[in-house]
Amino acid sequence: MNTTARYIHALGPAALTRFYDPVVRWVMREDAFRNRVLTHAELAPGQRLLDVGCGTGTLALLAKQRHPGVEVHGVDGDDKVLALAREKDERAGAGVRFERALAWALPYPDGTFDRVVSTLMFHHLTVDDKQRTAREIVRVLRPGGALVLADLGSPRSAPGRALARALFRASRFDDHLAGRLPALLGGAGLSEVAEVDQHDVGPLPIAVIRGHKPRGDG
Ligand SMILES: C[S@@+](CC[C@H](N)C(=O)[O-])C[C@H]1O[C@@H](n2cnc3c(N)ncnc32)[C@H](O)[C@@H]1O
Repeated sequence: MNTTARYIHALGPAALTRFYDPVVRWVMREDAFRNRVLTHAELAPGQRLLDVGCGTGTLALLAKQRHPGVEVHGVDGDDKVLALAREKDERAGAGVRFERALAWALPYPDGTFDRVVSTLMFHHLTVDDKQRTAREIVRVLRPGGALVLADLGSPRSAPGRALARALFRASRFDDHLAGRLPALLGGAGLSEVAEVDQHDVGPLPIAVIRGHKPRGDG
């Protein structure tokens, strides 16, 4: 696959991907986290939803189960994780459409989606790739549509800051730890971008950020 930066799989090394679901379930009160993201997406029947970097498809499947009238798509750059997502979808009979794509080259026409969600994916990307992914998400959103992004945020407590300094040394974490993701999304063309919620994983916050694609009618 043609990419400018090293591809980072769900748990880092590709061989660990099959352990992704149990690890996430164990580490982060997953149901509460995912329900929170979907609540902020404010889905309604007849809408189209895209999950970018959908991984094993847990959020996309939950979205389809909670909102059967929504057409749900998931993209991920990793065939192996998509195979797990498709297996889960088949078992659940949910009908999510999964496709392989890099986050900055989404295989959809402009304005296809009412909502885009992306959880725990942006920290896999370099600063440049975050920016081009954000622009690509804006492209596939319809005017007035919304992005809900959830990922590592800026720790507010001293233990959180110390843990983050120890764990997240690579430069791709800098925008997260400095609380710059809303500004980055605003720079890509989203409006009213704000951190609307926070899900704590021990002393580390997962920031839930929401923004809209302007309607273009002034
Ligand atoms: C930590 S997992 C998160 C998966 C899922 N969104 C969730 O909340 O469980 C990150 C996912 O992003 C995908 N990913 C990483 N870089 C990507 C890229 N450039 N384009 C598309 N997907 C990417 C990985 O394959 C992985 O499945």
